[in-house]
Amino acid sequence: MSRPAVDSSVPSSRARAVTVPEFLAAKSRGQRLVLVTAYDYTQARLVDEAGVDAVLVGDSLGMVVQGLPDVLSVTLEEMIYHTRCVARGLKHALLIADMPFLTYQVSPEQAVLNAGRLIKEGGAHAVKLEGGVRSREIIAALVRADIPVMGHIGLTPQSVRRLGGFRVQRSQEQLLQDAQAVVEAGAFALVIECVPAAIASAITASVPVPTIGIGAGAGCDGQILVLHDLLGLYPDLRPRFVKRYGELGEQTIAAVRRYAEEVRQGIFPSPEYELK
Ligand code: KIV
Repeated sequence: MSRPAVDSSVPSSRARAVTVPEFLAAKSRGQRLVLVTAYDYTQARLVDEAGVDAVLVGDSLGMVVQGLPDVLSVTLEEMIYHTRCVARGLKHALLIADMPFLTYQVSPEQAVLNAGRLIKEGGAHAVKLEGGVRSREIIAALVRADIPVMGHIGLTPQSVRRLGGFRVQRSQEQLLQDAQAVVEAGAFALVIECVPAAIASAITASVPVPTIGIGAGAGCDGQILVLHDLLGLYPDLRPRFVKRYGELGEQTIAAVRRYAEEVRQGIFPSPEYELK
């Protein structure tokens, strides 16, 4: 039987904002959660209007916005800037901001101060950070400071150098330990990235918080995709787990080509676009 998303029947302009406790409670209600990334005001308005439950300002912006080969050089200032832009466009969705590489790994104190900036200056409702067992103390410190945390295990893109690439993670024992550590530390949700579906289902059954899959099969409590991937806007990488719901890259090229042709031929601007 299909399960509805949180508040999906309510138009976003009238719906109130999703809270962390509601997001958490979706699991016990059997409601699948819908998450997507966004990086600016216009994207945020559009995905909010579409009725997603939460928006992640992912450090994937290093790749899809900045054109870098990975996420490692994204800075806290850049994350705060993009989070602030997205916050202005949301009325309904929960806003989660990624903590970039080396803004939380050094010490719990530094993690709390940096996460606090994403909340206070960026307007995020919660932060996401990578790592299971190794991030337990950091997550616990953030939660003690009243900062809601979403965990992220499996393929953790900030570990790309150690992992030697973006690879499927298959160690069930390690993944279960990581999930347990994140939950025990107080995270309200857990992203599971690039993990075989059977393992992600086992993790989902073993934790009380919603699991959000990306390349982790249908057994998770919710799904997240990078907006540029689902819209067909990012040509550099096409992971096998991404379903494209639009071809906006091709549509953009066609539209701009037409505009260029019309300017060159003197068709645009025609009289109806001239100011009197
Ligand atoms: O940075 C990001 O967009 C992410 C999602 C892919 C989960 O971490």
